[in-house]
Amino acid sequence: MSEARTMTNTVTVIGLGPMGQAIARVLLLAGREVTVWNRTVEKAIHLEELGARIAATPREAIRQSEIVLISVRGNDLVRRILTDAEVAGTAAILLNLSSDTPASARQLAAWVADQGIRYLGGTMLTPSALVGQSGSTAVLGGDRAVYEKARSILEIVAPELSYFGDDPGAVAALDLALLDAFWTTVAGWSHAVALGRAEGLNANSLVERLTSIVHLAAQVGTGISHDAEAGKYPGEVSTIASAHTTLRHLLQASADRALDTGVPGAIEGLLRRAVDQSRGEDGPSRLVSMIEQGG
Ligand SMILES: NC(=O)c1ccc[n+]([C@@H]2O[C@H](COP(=O)([O-])OP(=O)(O)OC[C@H]3O[C@@H](n4cnc5c(N)ncnc54)[C@H](OP(=O)(O)O)[C@@H]3O)[C@@H](O)[C@H]2O)c1
Repeated sequence: MSEARTMTNTVTVIGLGPMGQAIARVLLLAGREVTVWNRTVEKAIHLEELGARIAATPREAIRQSEIVLISVRGNDLVRRILTDAEVAGTAAILLNLSSDTPASARQLAAWVADQGIRYLGGTMLTPSALVGQSGSTAVLGGDRAVYEKARSILEIVAPELSYFGDDPGAVAALDLALLDAFWTTVAGWSHAVALGRAEGLNANSLVERLTSIVHLAAQVGTGISHDAEAGKYPGEVSTIASAHTTLRHLLQASADRALDTGVPGAIEGLLRRAVDQSRGEDGPSRLVSMIEQGG
């Protein structure tokens, strides 16, 4: 290790999918000494041209730096990689930015603690293309003192950094809740585009109005959040029964054009079960309790 190479400047990035590559790139551009490891080594070549050192194994990668960021497709992989790396007792602070379930996040945190490793579990709430830019957001959970030690590195990757408490499982829950809203919105948008196109509408012509209605959904969602905590299901503005009729129309129109009905079908089923349970005059907030009861 050269004299100029202080431990706070050394970072290892394990996992070079779009997210890991973006993280490694911004750290290199910020002047940090970066070691990378990826199962598919070809993805590291352009980072080597920017100055990264390619480690031959995860074991070697983890021992190169004080901070190790890991971003792979889920916690089973994280654990497998760390096991292969014989991670027990290593000095590095491990920052896991791989998305997975709250239960797996807690299990992994407990396993890592047993290995004697300083650890934070977290998530990037920003697409890979925006990593390092102002507004780029990451949330971390675990030991606050570890967070403070890792903070200067994390802020390069995500200037809008926040600490979410000592439970990495809570971070995973936040991550999945946001992804839940994101993917159901994206799926609904995709179905709307398919339905519009099947009826001769141009997808581009729908963008502005679809954007407005997604914003409207966010307003309705705000009310749903408040009502869920208050245990209220007011139906003055709109009712489950009316929404169910709309969804039946949507299903019929989709079937008329031989479209996949999986997305509206799931919502129609939820609304139908609410109507069958005499909840038709409740408002959309009732959906939360329907989901909580398993339908
Ligand atoms: N991309 C984004 O914009 C974004 C945004 C927020 C959060 N995230 C989260 O960041 C994490 C990484 O996402 P990503 O977009 O970079 O891509 P990803 O496809 O979720 O993960 C790619 C990484 O996982 C590795 N991997 C996958 N299967 C493997 C296996 N069987 N054995 C060993 N390694 C394996 C890949 O290695 P190979 O290259 O060898 O396949 C690569 O390093 C995920 O948890 C994702 O949810 C991503």
